[in-house]
Amino acid sequence: MIRRLAIDGYRSIRSLVVDLGDLTVVTGANGSGKSNLYRALRLLADCGEGRIIGSLAAVGGMDAVRWAGPEQGSSRGRAVQGTVRSGPVALRLGVATDELGYAIDLGIPVAARSAFDLDPEIKQEHVFAGLDPRPAGVLVERVRGLARMRGDDGWQQLATNMHPWASVLDELAGHEEAAELAGTRRMLRGWRFHDALRTDRSAPARQTQVATRAVRLDDDGANLAAVLQTAIEAGWDREVHAAIDRAFPGSRLRLPMADGRMSVSLEQPGLLRPLAAPELSDGTLQYLLLVAALLSAEKPSLVVLNEPERSLHVDLVEPLAALVRQAAEATQVVVVTHQQRLADALGGTRVELEKHDGETLVAGREGPLDRPAWHWPKR
Ligand SMILES: Nc1ncnc2c1ncn2[C@@H]1O[C@H](COP(=O)(O)OP(=O)(O)OP(=O)(O)O)[C@@H](O)[C@H]1O
Ligand SMILES: [Mg+2]
Repeated sequence: MIRRLAIDGYRSIRSLVVDLGDLTVVTGANGSGKSNLYRALRLLADCGEGRIIGSLAAVGGMDAVRWAGPEQGSSRGRAVQGTVRSGPVALRLGVATDELGYAIDLGIPVAARSAFDLDPEIKQEHVFAGLDPRPAGVLVERVRGLARMRGDDGWQQLATNMHPWASVLDELAGHEEAAELAGTRRMLRGWRFHDALRTDRSAPARQTQVATRAVRLDDDGANLAAVLQTAIEAGWDREVHAAIDRAFPGSRLRLPMADGRMSVSLEQPGLLRPLAAPELSDGTLQYLLLVAALLSAEKPSLVVLNEPERSLHVDLVEPLAALVRQAAEATQVVVVTHQQRLADALGGTRVELEKHDGETLVAGREGPLDRPAWHWPKR
């Protein structure tokens, strides 16, 4: 379970450290930086897939995503000083669980000019024990091209010429002795993100789909019917049907199959035939997608939902909150929402964001000392 998340120099987030619970609800006004926190978590997950450099280049490279304000940032009302940068450009992301933590420091290339100037460089990576990447707990350290691990008799060299675009999680995860690298990669790969689940008229979830077992929902929801059927066959039938009945009392999910293809439909009170996927309202489909995301046969270690309440009627807020709370018993869940009502219904650990002088801050914190401990490794 992720206990601590640290983000530094990413869009409106100059420097943020937050502790997460089994269920964490991130709230705040429009533009306060909620989606930036969501995107930062996604970038961390990209490290586990070896594609963080590509993801950053795809949105315009470091210039586009780095914090555009002064290094010292907001001082809540007091004048902001020191508007000239003196330190290096850095985007730093880190996460810590009870067992392992991972921190990555990205910067701009200093090497000879290349056609790939949008690609940032990995300056440092650290895998550590404990909740804070302080030097004493570091297990694997990568500084530019050099990677080493702490062994029984001191530091042991792992690599001497790593490319600036390659992560230790990708290049060295197969290393027999550095089991922490494979463990960290596995953790990051177990996270699931659902942002814009498609419910429009031509949404993939409204089409029939090949009937093949699916233990987790595709990002676009294309395998909705298969995920629900797989969960039902895996013994989650009571939970799935109860979640649907809470939202649409008296309705029953049907997953008709023909010619090796399947689809979702919903029997509703007062109707003589079930409504097929193309006929379901956007909100109904959105809710079914969330049921599939949260009750799939394979429970991910972390599910992050960005504005799950989109297109849901207020009557569905309470059933959605019950669904999320139930899922949070088996899976760590982070919900990003600006709907107060949903946040209140969810309970859990609350992280409220607000913006001061363009900078995302956690509401209620007095200053930089009033936050969980996190010491970024020095460059
Ligand atoms: N490079 C940057 N430096 C500083 N601020 C930035 C940068 N890029 C984007 N921002 C700011 O981040 C804010 C957007 O944050 P975000 O999209 O996370 O908001 P949100 O809380 O999700 O809002 P909503 O509720 O509308 O979805 C904008 O106000 C934008 O000005
Ligand atoms: Mg947003």
